Amino acid sequence: MKQQAAPATRPHAAFDGYHQTGPGTSDERLTRVGPGTPAGELLRRFWQPVAMTNEIGERPRLIRILGEDLVLFRDKSGTIGLVHRNCPHRRASLEFGTCETRGIRCCYHGWLFDADGTVLEVPGQPAGVEDKLRASVRLGAYPVRDYRGLVFAYMGPPDLCPAFPIYDTLEIPDQVYVPYRAPFRCNWLQVLDAILDPIHTSFLHSRISREQFSEGFGEVGEMKFYERQFGFIGTNSRRVGDNVWVRVNELVLPNYTQAGAAFAADGTQPRYFGRTAFARWVVPIDDDDTQCLAWACFGERGDPHEYNTPEGPELIEQGEVFDRPYEERQRYPADAEACEGMGTITEHSLENLVPSDKGIVMARRRLAAMAKALEDGTEPDNTASFWSGPVPTYGGDTVLCAPAKTNDDRALLRDVAKAVMEIQFAAEELTGAERDNQVIAALKDLEARGFAS
Ligand code: FES
Ligand SMILES: [Fe+2]
Repeated sequence: MKQQAAPATRPHAAFDGYHQTGPGTSDERLTRVGPGTPAGELLRRFWQPVAMTNEIGERPRLIRILGEDLVLFRDKSGTIGLVHRNCPHRRASLEFGTCETRGIRCCYHGWLFDADGTVLEVPGQPAGVEDKLRASVRLGAYPVRDYRGLVFAYMGPPDLCPAFPIYDTLEIPDQVYVPYRAPFRCNWLQVLDAILDPIHTSFLHSRISREQFSEGFGEVGEMKFYERQFGFIGTNSRRVGDNVWVRVNELVLPNYTQAGAAFAADGTQPRYFGRTAFARWVVPIDDDDTQCLAWACFGERGDPHEYNTPEGPELIEQGEVFDRPYEERQRYPADAEACEGMGTITEHSLENLVPSDKGIVMARRRLAAMAKALEDGTEPDNTASFWSGPVPTYGGDTVLCAPAKTNDDRALLRDVAKAVMEIQFAAEELTGAERDNQVIAALKDLEARGFAS
C-alpha cells in the first residue's frame, strides 16, 4: 500500500511527487454552505445579496444561493419575491410560473402564492379546500430588500432576522454606485481569503501579470492585521517618493469586503481617508460555485468616473475582464485564475502558510469559532444592531507626505500605518460626515506634525 503523504514538518526529498499526491482535506466546517452546515447556518444569519435588481424581468428567474434552488420574481404590482423553486402541491418548478398582479402562479395546476409564501388561490377544488390549504401549507419564501440595484435576502430563521445594514461607504454624497456580479467557479472561502491577503496585489496584480491596477502596487509594503468586533483589517503601507501610501483592506464578518481604490490611488498624490472602490459580498452559490455581488464606487473618494464603463467594474474587481481566452488568462492571470486554479474546493491540509497569511489564518479561525458558537446556540453579533446610522467601516486609502528620515524606513512605514488606523479607531463611535471630518482633520494634523521613526 502506498505510504501516506509526508508530514509538512519533514523536508521532502527531491523528486518527491509520489509522496505528495494527497488527497488533502478542506476545512469542511467553512467550505460547506448548504442548509444545516456550520458555515451555511452562519451565512444565513446575515442579509446576503442574491441578484442584481435589473436581472428581474417579466418572467421568474431561477437562482441558486447557499445550495438552495430558488425563484426570484417581481409581481405585476412591483413586489419582489424569493421563493423555493418547487411548488408545494406536486413539486413543479416555479421558474415556469407566471407573475400575477399579486404573487406567482404555478404553471402546472395554477396555485397562486404571495411573495411571503401564503397560498392565495387553489383553483378547481371543492369549497373549503383552499381555506384548509391556506392554513396548513406555505411555499418556502424569504424576505428581500432592494437596495441600490442589488436584491438582498435573509435566509435564516424568521424570528432572528436582523436589521438591514447600511455601511458608511455606501452613503457618500455624490458617489456613483454601479452594481456588478463577479463569478468564481470555486468555493467561496478561497475567494474570500484574498481580501486579507494584501501581498498578492504586489505579485499577481503587478509583478507577475501586467500592471493591472495603478502604479505602486508592485512594491511589497509593510503589512499589519487587526481584529475588530465585527471583522478584520489588513493594512499595507508603501513608500512612494516622499509619501507613504496606506492601503486598508477590510472584511466585515462573515463575507462583506472592502479595499482601497483600484485606480484612484497610487501613492503619488495626497489622499485623506479615500474609501473603497468596490464594496462586495462573497456569496456562495453552493459548495462549488461563488458569485461576488457588489458595487463599483465612482467619485472623489472611490475610483475615477472614467472607469464607469461596461468593463470598469470587472477591472476594479480583478484587474482584467472576466471572459477571456485561455491563452490570455495564462499570460495575465488575475483573481479568477488564482482562486479557481486551486481546484473547486482547495485542500487546506496541503497549504504551507507564512507570516503574510496571518490575516487569512485569523479570519478563518474566527469564522470557524462563530460557526461553532452558533452550533452551540450563540447567535453572531450583527453590525446593524450596534449603529442606528450608517455602520462605520475602514476600507480605503490614505496617502500622507512623510519623507524617509532614517535608514530604517520600514519602521516609518509601520508607524504611519499604525497612526492612520489609530485615528480611524478613535472615531469609530461616530458615523457619516461627522466621522469623515474628524478622521480627515486628524490625518492632516498628523501629516503637518511630521513623523520621526
Ligand atoms: S404542482 Fe404546482 S400547482 Fe400543482
Ligand atoms: Fe486580487
